[in-house]
Amino acid sequence: MSIRQLKVSGVRNLQPLEITPHAGVNFIYGDNGCGKTSILEAIALMASGKSFRTTKIQHVLNHEADRIEMFLEVDDEERGVCTMDSLRLKNGDTLLKLNGSVLTSQAEAAHWLPVQIIDPNTFKLLSGSPEERRQFIDWGVFHVEHKFMEQWKTFRKQLKQRNAVLKQKELEWLPTWTAGFIESAEVIDQHRQAYLKRFKPEFEKILSQLDESIDVQLAYYRGWDKDTPLVDVLEKQQERDLVIGYTQSGPHRAELRIKVGKLPAAEILSRGQQKTVVSALKIAQGALFQQESQRRTIYLVDDLASELDEKHRHALCKLLESLDCQVFITSIDKEKLTDVWQPSASKMFHVEQGVIVEE
Ligand SMILES: Nc1ncnc2c1ncn2[C@@H]1O[C@H](COP(=O)(O)OP(=O)(O)OP(=O)(O)O)[C@@H](O)[C@H]1O
Ligand SMILES: [Mg+2]
Repeated sequence: MSIRQLKVSGVRNLQPLEITPHAGVNFIYGDNGCGKTSILEAIALMASGKSFRTTKIQHVLNHEADRIEMFLEVDDEERGVCTMDSLRLKNGDTLLKLNGSVLTSQAEAAHWLPVQIIDPNTFKLLSGSPEERRQFIDWGVFHVEHKFMEQWKTFRKQLKQRNAVLKQKELEWLPTWTAGFIESAEVIDQHRQAYLKRFKPEFEKILSQLDESIDVQLAYYRGWDKDTPLVDVLEKQQERDLVIGYTQSGPHRAELRIKVGKLPAAEILSRGQQKTVVSALKIAQGALFQQESQRRTIYLVDDLASELDEKHRHALCKLLESLDCQVFITSIDKEKLTDVWQPSASKMFHVEQGVIVEE
């Protein structure tokens, strides 16, 4: 998958832009505050409906604009050349289109625009809440298992219903919803387990290519005790669940534990090492996606130089190049991009006060 044409208006300080990116590497450089991150943010917004900088999409909207409009022409390995349009109004209303036909959900857009982001906040994947790591696993499952989104929605519905029943103390309904909850919980858990089994060796390989000296282990916690069937766990916890009005155990409590020895990696590793580990997680995810779907993910790498020394920058860039996918990579200095990396297939863009120009 690569973006062949990108049009954006109404995002942050960016002037309406229109660029034709390279299918390989796209270097974007410019001074602080010129709008580099905003360009990546716009692509991420199209892909996920979210910004990686803020939970409030209104903050992404240019102060003077009333809408964000985007148009992408993409070349997909499965679908060929297609167009994607999005319109986001100030009040939150959103319209997404693929080849001119309205998409009914953001998940559909996410399917057609697989994107991985490596940015200065990326270490939050280690130090942030378990939710971030659950979402990480689920990205991997979602992009290879076509049924996963529906199954995930079913699970959320079952969880919501069971919680409502617990809150209302409707004991006569509890066994029915508990049975439904268990059934859908097991489906989610099996997908995640199977994914992580395939993911782990890929991650270990990539991490050793980035830095052989970092030794971290991934351990999956499914959200309830690994040796006890969920039905028994729920039975044991039923009394407490009824008091708090909430299901304490299940896939909504799953966690990917990332450790150095017995300790959380986020509390042991330096910032640079954390960035390396997270980059390895994301590159491994992209690589696995590529192997399993025959499609390629797009990498958005914001502020490459932050936290990484020259050796690690070089290793990261080489790995990205070996994946042969489209990369958008930003830096303040042109030199910090090109000192370590001169890929054969690339374009250079300069941004100045919200205006992007191809060099
Ligand atoms: N909603 C908005 N409307 C207009 N301008 C905005 C809005 N939000 C942020 N800005 C401005 O837009 C610019 C966005 O900069 P951005 O973060 O993309 O810069 P950058 O090139 O990535 O800088 P840095 O090198 O510091 O990371 C900043 O100057 C910021 O003050
Ligand atoms: Mg920036």
